[in-house]
Amino acid sequence: MANNRTFTMIKPDAVANGHIGAILNDITAGGFKIVAMKYLKLTPEKAGEFYAVHKERGFYGELVSFMSSGPIVAAILEKDNAVEDFRKLIGATNPADAAEGTIRQKYAKSIDANAVHGSDSDENAEIEGNFYFTDAEKF
Ligand code: TYD
Repeated sequence: MANNRTFTMIKPDAVANGHIGAILNDITAGGFKIVAMKYLKLTPEKAGEFYAVHKERGFYGELVSFMSSGPIVAAILEKDNAVEDFRKLIGATNPADAAEGTIRQKYAKSIDANAVHGSDSDENAEIEGNFYFTDAEKF
């Protein structure tokens, strides 16, 4: 099981701009299988908990308020080398630096509203997936 799952969110900006379908299409075309998926809106408390690792960063307050500003899609994805391959598919944190054809280059407008989340390690993928989904919700 190790090394083959990652966790993603389609963030409020991409949802509001009508990009859910296009992003899911890029994800499945990229060879990822959807293991679990939910459409939901985070409370500020839950967004703060999810991003607690960034609590000391200057952008934390805005990040929490942005991530709780509208609905998101949360999903667990499966593929060999999932974490690394998914971060390649989404591109750099700042869409201005994201490679041509990546999800952030295509659908994000700024570093704070950057369309998608992708876990940065296998360990975090597991923690983040379990933040949203029970084992019975993973297929
Ligand atoms: P980070 O974990 O550095 O990036 P990534 O999502 O690519 O793993 O940051 C988490 C989120 O915090 C990022 O997706 C958007 C937000 N953020 C800002 O709003 N401003 C910033 O300067 C940075 C670095 C991140």
